[in-house]
Amino acid sequence: MYADNKIRRSTINDIIKLKNVRPVVSLTAYTAPMAASLDPYADFLLVGDSLAMVLYGMESTIGVSLDTMIEHTKAVMRGAQKAMVILDMPFGSFEQSKEQAFANASRVLRETGCAAVKLEGGIDMAETIEFLVKRNIPVMAHIGLRPQAVHVMGGYKTQGKNKKERAQMIEDALAIQKAGAFAVVLEGTEESLAVEITKKLDIITIGIGASAECDGQILVAEDMLGYFPKNAKFVKRYAEVGEIIDSAAKAYADDVKARKFPAIEHTYGIKPKS
Ligand code: KIV
Repeated sequence: MYADNKIRRSTINDIIKLKNVRPVVSLTAYTAPMAASLDPYADFLLVGDSLAMVLYGMESTIGVSLDTMIEHTKAVMRGAQKAMVILDMPFGSFEQSKEQAFANASRVLRETGCAAVKLEGGIDMAETIEFLVKRNIPVMAHIGLRPQAVHVMGGYKTQGKNKKERAQMIEDALAIQKAGAFAVVLEGTEESLAVEITKKLDIITIGIGASAECDGQILVAEDMLGYFPKNAKFVKRYAEVGEIIDSAAKAYADDVKARKFPAIEHTYGIKPKS
């Protein structure tokens, strides 16, 4: 299932070249088996800090540590062979100074072997992005609805609804591009603004609740699979994995209670009758 040295992993250049060619396909992954399942179909896999909520049941993404993100990224690197892997810098790991961001992002690349980091922020993070890129750390930025800013934004609110928000987001996008980011996630953004930004930028825009006209799309895999209870309007559920697990767990419990499991074929020292 894991690591075949003959398979070439995508690089940021492969992703960059997709602008105006075809939409970039990306999903989140937090574990080796999920990464192995998604790998054939994704250009890149993001180890998103959304794992705080999806895997650990936290209220927001604020509580996840860099150590946790690193361990999950190592797992995803073991599971995925061809997709580029990006680690999402968690809250508190890059905002203090560009030096703090470099210390933590370089640790990420060294310890996990992943190819790039994502960080939330626009013009406020431009200096940090430039500092990282000049020191060989590829950066994908994240603007619009920024989950790590939930407390200052006063909730998870769609962005670009008025002139001021639109102007700010365009300014953010241009600053990020100038700083050297290779891509930018546009989350929870009015369609017309996402289209305008995508047209203005030479770098790749990745939409999540933005527009089908972005240069690519990302979804949280568990949302897309129907394995997370709360879904935003922008989520399309392509499966109902929660229901599959529920019926399997019920069937197992019924079998155990009825002493139907384990059966002879699952038991050591007893030969099934031929
Ligand atoms: O944390 C995350 O999963 C993300 C993506 C959904 C963009 O930031």
